[in-house]
Amino acid sequence: MTVGPHPEPWPDDPRLDPELLEHGDTRNVVDRYRYWRREAIVEDLDRTRRPLHVAIENWQHDFNIGSIVRTANAFNVAAVHIVGRRRWNRRGAMVTDRYMHVVHHPDLPALVDWADSEGIPLVGIDIMDGSVPLEGASLPSRCALLFGQEGPGLSDEAVEAVSTVLHITQSGSTRSMNAGAAAAIAMYEWVRQHGMGPEHP
Ligand SMILES: C[S@@+](CC[C@H](N)C(=O)[O-])C[C@H]1O[C@@H](n2cnc3c(N)ncnc32)[C@H](O)[C@@H]1O
Repeated sequence: MTVGPHPEPWPDDPRLDPELLEHGDTRNVVDRYRYWRREAIVEDLDRTRRPLHVAIENWQHDFNIGSIVRTANAFNVAAVHIVGRRRWNRRGAMVTDRYMHVVHHPDLPALVDWADSEGIPLVGIDIMDGSVPLEGASLPSRCALLFGQEGPGLSDEAVEAVSTVLHITQSGSTRSMNAGAAAAIAMYEWVRQHGMGPEHP
């Protein structure tokens, strides 16, 4: 849903963007952010971001990254970390990356350095030999969930870097689900365990 020009007189609020007030707001934002400047929205989200981080390996331009960024925005996670190639397919993000902190790490050791320096455990999410069910696992409140990419899944280097690998139990014929879908389920499991946070209807 979009909104047209704001009726005058305009509210006296520095968070509001005169361009949007004049021409209307066609962005996909919740009603409470209508007409707000992008910077004001980011600042407001920053006050309530969850201590959850999400990281994804990007060695082959994984098309799931956009969808993961959008879900990460929906749950207001602290940041999304892209590991490997800097460029990623933004299409599925539907511009939500503009309201997120998206951090690039050129390789796995760089992600591990960042996680160590912040004292944040890396938790692998993949379905593979030795992985344990996410259902029943306790996710740390401060952590980074690390996802692999279509095809290879988590790299060997990533599996070595994480404290544990958790899988979403499956019962069909496919070996795995789409990484964007798996990421949405894992993020939802984290918020289910740690509380939804302030709701933005
Ligand atoms: C399409 S999977 C690829 C690899 C998978 N290991 C395989 O053998 O087919 C891509 C990514 O999605 C996530 N994923 C897919 N299905 C999953 C599941 N059932 N549990 C946890 N993660 C999953 C993981 O992060 C995985 O690295």
